[in-house]
Amino acid sequence: MSLLTRRRLLRRAALSATAAGAARTGLAGATAAGIATSTVALGGCDSPPERTTDPEPDRGLRFPDGFAWGAATSAYQIEGAAKEDGRGESVWDTFSHTPGRIRNGDTGDVAADHYHRYAQDLDLMRELGLRSYRFSISWPRIQADGSGRPNQRGLDFYRRLLDGLHERGIAPMATLFHWDLPQALQDAGGWENRDTAERFAEYADVVFRALGDRVPVWLTVNEPKTVVQNGYIWGHHAPGFQDEDAAYLVAHHLQLAHGLAVQALRASGVTGRIGPALNLHPCYPADDSAESATATRLHDGYENRLYLDSIFKGAYPQDVLDDLGPDSRMVRGVRDGDLKIISSPVDLLAVQYYTPIYVTGDGDTVRKWPTSEAEWQQIYPEGMYDILTRVTRDYGRVPITITENGLPCPDVPGADGNIDDAGRVTFLRDHFAAAHRAIGDGVPLESYHVWSLLDNFEWAEGYEQRWGLVYVDYASQRRVLKRSAHWYRDVIRRNGL
Ligand code: FCB
Repeated sequence: MSLLTRRRLLRRAALSATAAGAARTGLAGATAAGIATSTVALGGCDSPPERTTDPEPDRGLRFPDGFAWGAATSAYQIEGAAKEDGRGESVWDTFSHTPGRIRNGDTGDVAADHYHRYAQDLDLMRELGLRSYRFSISWPRIQADGSGRPNQRGLDFYRRLLDGLHERGIAPMATLFHWDLPQALQDAGGWENRDTAERFAEYADVVFRALGDRVPVWLTVNEPKTVVQNGYIWGHHAPGFQDEDAAYLVAHHLQLAHGLAVQALRASGVTGRIGPALNLHPCYPADDSAESATATRLHDGYENRLYLDSIFKGAYPQDVLDDLGPDSRMVRGVRDGDLKIISSPVDLLAVQYYTPIYVTGDGDTVRKWPTSEAEWQQIYPEGMYDILTRVTRDYGRVPITITENGLPCPDVPGADGNIDDAGRVTFLRDHFAAAHRAIGDGVPLESYHVWSLLDNFEWAEGYEQRWGLVYVDYASQRRVLKRSAHWYRDVIRRNGL
């Protein structure tokens, strides 16, 4: 791995650690790099009062007919019921039960108890008027050890969920892998082992055949980049490694898994559409120097083109391959025919947008905008416009769905029991407006899923960060629609802002 990359990654790891510490002590707006950001108050959750007038004026921004407004969740983050009905263990069970890994020692054992309360949650979705619901299927519920005969009770749960969605007129969108790799596969090498991609294709085939009649849209792998970076470079996600050389081999195998699942869907005869779910980060130079421009280009390669080019152009970006070097495990791990599998034609691209990245001449990343409670998230709605238009410009008019966008807020019920998350309303409104502008400029965007429907287990942050439209009181598991949920219902009703 090149010096530039090594420095950049080390720097980011340090930044991330610093920021995590800062966030814990309530200094989330501080910046390690000294650039910009005053406090979270400006763009985060405590927006100035003039930006939160109620009711929101009608701005006359209408989305195309049939635009599908939705919300998203993932299995480990909401389901709970970790040991029920034959579910096996995933890497996230192991990781969250390892002391010191998760804030406050939280685990997903119970989470939002959605496994038992799904019917109530379906009613909430109906109340909101959702047209689409994006959720994930837990691989260890379907195959406890990651291979072999499926667990019928696991499949039955998702059939009940799907039936409930259909009864309520909500279109399901199912993610096959949202990070909960069966622990047994991790014990056999996890995503460093090429065989895991083959096991994933088998699991996908089982799910397609069992549930394919009920699912119009499938997403393969959720945010492969997060597994690569958080799971294998920085180590604060499962499986918790810090091994850059392994990380990019993992990237290749996740891409391969994606392509094999696309092929499995086509071979199954099931008619649903399928695509990848990528978290894309628009990368901008931090200043006007030629060095920043060069460093930004490479950064964009690692953040975006590594995944987009391989899927849509059938080749990994040369600058990234050069940077990794011929002796890297990834470059040595790519076999003839792999890129053909990875670039199997897809029906749509799922984009997850949270934050821009600013890159300095020596490859560091710095902050220019206020952050939310999540220290890695700079609030920059324009980035939504930039990434959507860029994807359409560079990769053609593949239909796009936004499958995640949102922010955490310090939501606390008021004396009247209401949760006044005005900052979330502002955030979503500005990002919806940016998406609307992108549609006007030719982006074939067909749906938008807010992250998240419910407060949930936010990985290394445990339950401390609340990302939901719906508040969850974990002690009683009571759900309360936040102000943003009421506002979102109006957006859906009028199909716009
Ligand atoms: C994304 C994840 C999702 C959630 C949000 C906040 O990276 O896909 O599960 O944690 O971030």
